Amino acid sequence: MTQDIKEILISQSQIDARVKELAGEINKDYKGKCVFFIGVLKGCFLFLSDLLKEIKLDTNVDFMMVSSYSGTQSSGVVRTLLDLKQSIEGKHVIIVEDIVDSGLTMNYMLKNLSTRNPKSLEICTLLNKPSCRKIKVPIKYSGFEIPDKFVVGYGLDYNEIYRNLPYIGVLKESAIKER
Ligand code: IMP
Ligand code: MG
Repeated sequence: MTQDIKEILISQSQIDARVKELAGEINKDYKGKCVFFIGVLKGCFLFLSDLLKEIKLDTNVDFMMVSSYSGTQSSGVVRTLLDLKQSIEGKHVIIVEDIVDSGLTMNYMLKNLSTRNPKSLEICTLLNKPSCRKIKVPIKYSGFEIPDKFVVGYGLDYNEIYRNLPYIGVLKESAIKER
């Protein structure tokens, strides 16, 4: 697995420090409020759990699973595979995502969730690839801006592998084969 990694783009300690900073900003911005965190499965799972451990507010946590990707190419069509179990009406909502790439997934989530009348709705993403954007999305909290490279680790996968790497790494071309 690690032999497929060309380069470590963001180390475990860099992730750790930045996640604490993001949580600090959220703690400050939402002081005295209850925040409803929506994790976008599966890529969010490590980021969300590390982030939530640093949040000092009252929280709700729920998950959605949407799909737009297969392999390394975005298909452009977003579908809901798993929906929320709880209502977000009147709640302060933060969507927690692993990476914003084309923006299609977040655009879909913002449109879909805003029809449910949350009190506020923001995006928190660990990674942001602005050069790949097809649709503009407002990102309130962004961990790292990264170049147009396919990355894995810390929740992010390639064909369901590499999610358990504790860092963000760039995959070798030789490890990328469309199946
Ligand atoms: P978007 O809809 O193109 O913004 O893509 C969002 C989703 O595609 C993310 O939530 C990821 O699951 C996946 N994705 C985009 N770029 C990468 C990458 O470099 N590595 C792994 N997954 C990615
Ligand atoms: Mg994702």
